[in-house]
Formats: sequence, structure tokens, C-alpha cells
Amino acid sequence: MAKPIYIVGAGGLGLEMLALLQSFPEYAASGFYDDQFEKGSLIHGLVCLGNVSELLSISNKTYLLVAIGDPFFKREIIDKINSNTNLEFPTFIHPKATLLQSKEIKIGKGTIITAGAILTTHISIGDFVLINLNSTIGHHVQLQNFVSIMPGVNLAGKVVVEKEVLIGSGANVLNGVTIGLQAKVGSGAVVTKNVLPNQTVVGIPAKPLVK
Ligand SMILES: CC(C)(COP(=O)(O)OP(=O)(O)OC[C@H]1O[C@@H](n2cnc3c(N)ncnc32)[C@H](O)[C@@H]1OP(=O)(O)O)[C@@H](O)C(=O)NCCC(=O)NCCS
Repeated sequence: MAKPIYIVGAGGLGLEMLALLQSFPEYAASGFYDDQFEKGSLIHGLVCLGNVSELLSISNKTYLLVAIGDPFFKREIIDKINSNTNLEFPTFIHPKATLLQSKEIKIGKGTIITAGAILTTHISIGDFVLINLNSTIGHHVQLQNFVSIMPGVNLAGKVVVEKEVLIGSGANVLNGVTIGLQAKVGSGAVVTKNVLPNQTVVGIPAKPLVK
């Protein structure tokens, strides 16, 4: 029998994760948890079971998929609920993602790799990482916990992406670049040099965003 799984976050990514779960018949999507919706309301055809804090009092084994794109917010939510050892966070690798040498690719819990992603070899991926549609991840890349890679990103070999980094859709990161803790890379950027922690870079070549 399929195991019930609940999606944390009922926005656009939550809807896409609901679609992703169609490829995993061992799980049955059974509802959302989200602070923005009223308990009992219907979202994307499923019930909202309450806000995220309610997950703290769950006393039986419960599977969750965290569908939050913003890395900082994702980490905050997980910090809030992680103390409840009844909560389990499976890893999902869509059947249409390609891992060229899977025994040389380490992947942490709660990580999601969506359709069309291609990963080569000697790659290390932490917990709660999102690798979104059609992204490519080269050799010896490290993706630390809570990183979100948006659709169509290309990471060349030996790129290091530190914790809680967001890489916007269609960005390219050149060989050997390190992207520092909580940095953001804008959509369409070409990153040729290291990015400092907390910095936002945009453009070609990517430069710090000055507001
Ligand atoms: C780079 C980014 C993080 C900046 O977000 P922000 O700090 O909220 O910045 P703002 O939207 O306030 O924009 C500030 C300025 O940067 C510019 N800018 C924003 N994103 C840019 C980008 N990717 N490339 C070039 N310029 C960009 C804006 O036009 C604005 O310029 P202005 O001051 O001259 O009007 C964000 O724009 C981005 O690209 N996020 C990725 C989103 C994504 O990939 N989503 C995928 C969903 S599936």
C-alpha cells in the first residue's frame, strides 16, 4: 500500500512537487502543511492540514516533502520541525533525471532532483537540496545543505555551492567557482569568479547587485 506523504509549502513549487509525486507510486500525496492557508481548506485538490508548527506534535512516523524554493526560508522551516524524530524526509530523484555514475554521487535526505536534470560523477549533495528541471551538474561539484538550483542552471566541474545558496534559473557557473553561504545568483547570470557569502550577483559576467 502507498505510504501517505505530506507536502510542506502549497505554492507553485508545492503544486510541481505534487506532479513529481505522480512518478512515485509508493507514496500517496495526502495533503499540505502551509502557514498561509486555512486548516481544512482545499489547495490543488488536497486538504490543508494546518500550519507548519502542527508538525511538531505528530507522534507517528510521517513522510514529508518540503516544497520551499527560498533556501533561507527552507532552512528556517526545517530547523523548526526537525526536532520531531517522527518526521521523515525521503529523497526523490525523478525517473527522468540522469545520474551518469550514481555510485559516485552522494545525496542527502530530503533532497529533490527533478525531471531533466543531468549529474555526471564525483558529486556531493547535502540535505534538503533542490535541483530543478533541466539543470546540469558537473564533476566534483559540491552542493551543501538547503541549496536551491532553479531550472536550466549549468554548474561546471568543481563548483562549490555553500549552504543556503539560491541559483536563479538559466544561470551558468564556470569551472572551480565557489558561491558563498546564503549568496544569490540571479537568473541568466554567468558566474566567472567566486561569490562572497550573502552577496547577490547578476548579469554577464556576474557582478554584485547594487540597489
Ligand atoms: C537576483 C535576484 C535574487 C534579485 O532579487 P531582489 O534582490 O529581490 O532584486 P529586485 O527584484 O529588487 O531587483 C533589483 C534590481 O536588479 C535587477 N535584477 C533582478 N534580477 C536580475 C537578474 N537576474 N539579472 C539582471 N538584473 C536583475 C532588477 O531589474 C532591479 O534593477 P533596477 O534597480 O534597475 O530596477 C532575483 O531577481 C533573481 O534572479 N532570482 C531568481 C529567481 C528564479 O530563478 N526563480 C525561478 C523560479 S522557478
